[in-house]
Amino acid sequence: MSEVAVLFVCLGNICRSPTAEGIFRHLARERRLDHRLVVDSAGTGGWHVGEPADPRTLAAARRRGITWDHRARQVGVADFTRFDLLIAMDRRNLSDLLDVAPDEASRAKVVLLRSFDPSTAPGDELDVPDPYFGGDDGFERVLDLCERACAGLLDTLVRERGLGAGAGRP
Ligand code: 4NP
Repeated sequence: MSEVAVLFVCLGNICRSPTAEGIFRHLARERRLDHRLVVDSAGTGGWHVGEPADPRTLAAARRRGITWDHRARQVGVADFTRFDLLIAMDRRNLSDLLDVAPDEASRAKVVLLRSFDPSTAPGDELDVPDPYFGGDDGFERVLDLCERACAGLLDTLVRERGLGAGAGRP
């Protein structure tokens, strides 16, 4: 089975998409699927390029035992070739990605993270709210939403892309 490459995308690449990346890596490691995944994150904006994740993001994730290395970067056209899925945190990110996608095949790779959350119902609002200008509770909510959606994403990749089929990592 070939690998699956996923890119999580938000606005600044210092709060939400790094959180999703860290959680997804953590879940994939727990399920011994990490060797078959390429995982990264990026922002549609370039203001924070080269910076680590927001200290509030890192502190909230650390409280749940999740750590990862991160430097912010901006999404580029080459990402539509490198990745199988570009996973947007909210509808604005989704629309910005669709604007820069070079062709129809690239547009088909763009999805909303919370569309993978099995606890959502048709018609639910699917944004992961931007916590940057708010308090600590916003960062906890990002973690809660990302945990549910990333677990659903992993299940979907196992089911629909054959991830985990065949021999697992020893
Ligand atoms: P993120 O949050 O998109 O979840 O990384 C933000 C980070 C920075 C800014 C906005 C959102 N900003 O305006 O600098």
